[in-house]
Amino acid sequence: LGMRHDLYIGTAVDMAALNDPADPQYRQLVGSQFSSVTAENVMKWESLEPTRGTYNWGPADQLIAYAKQNNQRVRGHVLVWHNQLPGWLTTGVADGSIDTAELRDILRNHITTVVKHFKGKIWQWDVVNEAVSDPWDNPPALHYKGFWAQHLGPGYVADAFRWARAADPNALLFYNDYNIEAFGSGNPADDKTQFVYDMVKRLRATGVPIDGVGSQGHLGTQYGNYDTLQVADALERFGDLGLATAFTEVDVRSQMTPGVQAGDSNEINPRLQASAANYSVLLQACLLSRHCLSFTVWGFTDRHSWIPGWFDNPPEGLATLYDENYQPKRAYQTVKADL
Ligand code: XIL
Repeated sequence: LGMRHDLYIGTAVDMAALNDPADPQYRQLVGSQFSSVTAENVMKWESLEPTRGTYNWGPADQLIAYAKQNNQRVRGHVLVWHNQLPGWLTTGVADGSIDTAELRDILRNHITTVVKHFKGKIWQWDVVNEAVSDPWDNPPALHYKGFWAQHLGPGYVADAFRWARAADPNALLFYNDYNIEAFGSGNPADDKTQFVYDMVKRLRATGVPIDGVGSQGHLGTQYGNYDTLQVADALERFGDLGLATAFTEVDVRSQMTPGVQAGDSNEINPRLQASAANYSVLLQACLLSRHCLSFTVWGFTDRHSWIPGWFDNPPEGLATLYDENYQPKRAYQTVKADL
């Protein structure tokens, strides 16, 4: 499959780890193993504008400078999301001091300010993130979920893309979500893929400036494997709408049954193999699809992965390419071999 030398391989970057003098391997590997970077947190609204009207650009600018030094492209993450919003915004809406008209102005202003600040430096922007519910959510019918849909209605999605385009006409504008890897796989998430497909198709048909769909690719070995051709087919279908695609946040976690130690190879090896196999499914699907521009992992070492802090009941982990001591795991070898 080594015919796609144009595929960018990216990672999310944790700025604290990048700047930690006691952890030089982190910085060394970000700089040497990847051709694209995404800010894991520092371009989120709560980081950029912790106090209303006062933007804190420092850490994000630092990542951009680092990427330039290392000849890396930057994925911008994220303009509109329901999580990691600043307290002044959520509180203001909750207590009624910010009404709907003002909220819409605030959103337009945020998108415009942020996209202009980074103008010319961002390859792909995640304009809207995770706007759609999951099939197992309540209410069960798939719908536009979260803070923005609740307060502005689903029209905020089209607005966000228009405002982003006006602020930087050259950045590729993406809709980004999880559980949209496949259609017709038998996984309940298939319905979500279809909902997102219908949404982006409608956006394209009505002239909304959307350029791509990002499939996050947060998988778990407990759910089994997708089939490469099914995933490639989903990418093709998005591609047929005239959209680019990308895997934007790949990691493949495993449940850690009680008593399993990281060094217990009889227990751990099957998980590492299953994780590697899932990485390979997503990467090969991307390699097979000429519209798939980049393959980004959400962290590359178990030393700095969001999984253990987020999925803790039961505890999950082992989701990345390198172990906690920066030893490449089977998933690393698989990805290398596919490339
Ligand atoms: C996660 C980060 O990795 C964590 O450090 C943070 O505490 C929470 O957010 N989908 C996304 C990412 O789009 O922004 C999330 O990142 C992971 C899920």
